[in-house]
Amino acid sequence: RVTAAVLAGGVGTRMGGPRPKQLLPLAGRPVIEHAIAAFCAAPEVDDVIVLMVADYVGEVEKIVAEGGHTKVSRVLPGGATRTETSAAALHALEGAGDDEIVLLHDAVRPLVTPDIIRACIAALETAGAIGVAIPSSDTVVEAAPGTSGGEVIRQVPPRASLRRMQTPQGFRLGVIRRAYRLALADPELVATDDCGVVLRYLPEVPVRLVPGAESNIKVTHPGDLGVAEALLRHREQPDRGAR
Ligand code: CTP
Repeated sequence: RVTAAVLAGGVGTRMGGPRPKQLLPLAGRPVIEHAIAAFCAAPEVDDVIVLMVADYVGEVEKIVAEGGHTKVSRVLPGGATRTETSAAALHALEGAGDDEIVLLHDAVRPLVTPDIIRACIAALETAGAIGVAIPSSDTVVEAAPGTSGGEVIRQVPPRASLRRMQTPQGFRLGVIRRAYRLALADPELVATDDCGVVLRYLPEVPVRLVPGAESNIKVTHPGDLGVAEALLRHREQPDRGAR
């Protein structure tokens, strides 16, 4: 059994507010509805749960009902941090078996594709944890505070081995449960994504990478809505296609 958890507990500070960015309109429907619809349309996905900023749970329930997204079983309040929201999703799946699969997805990645979802679930046949990633076309450097103000480059990791992480991130429930149990008991827990939690607390479990897509963007800054809209238009005309 496969559950997709759409994580929408963030308020979108970088977008500028006041409404959480996952509720902003994108091509005629809220950003979060695109993400919900993508998982509901995936034949491999049995159940969808949504973790939303508490004040807006009712609004998302309405979006789900009016959009006819019948695979959505629950809309629940998220947590104060993304890690807490993921933990709330795992809590909601308490009754499920350790062999079941959970895909944790950012509500603000509305362009996730059927191919990515399928590839994640296929990889979990033989892996306990998977992340979706793409190569970086930009050089990525590690920065450090400069001695006379500003920043300097500390090091330039080899670009060929660097990847940019996207979502979903997928897990056998037994794996992610164990990792979160250890993480939540650690007073020095630092904010990280869900693959980062497995990497840190269950180093013996390999986190396999599945290719993402350049178009699977995270709506973060105000200009990103226009970019997402253009990418959606391209998708409808594949001959002019963005990947
Ligand atoms: N998220 C969450 N619960 C939180 C914080 C974030 O579920 N307490 C979710 C967001 O809703 C989003 C995803 O994690 O779908 C990625 O986070 P990000 O883009 O950083 O979203 P925000 O935290 O909302 O944005 P910002 O950092 O600009 O405030």
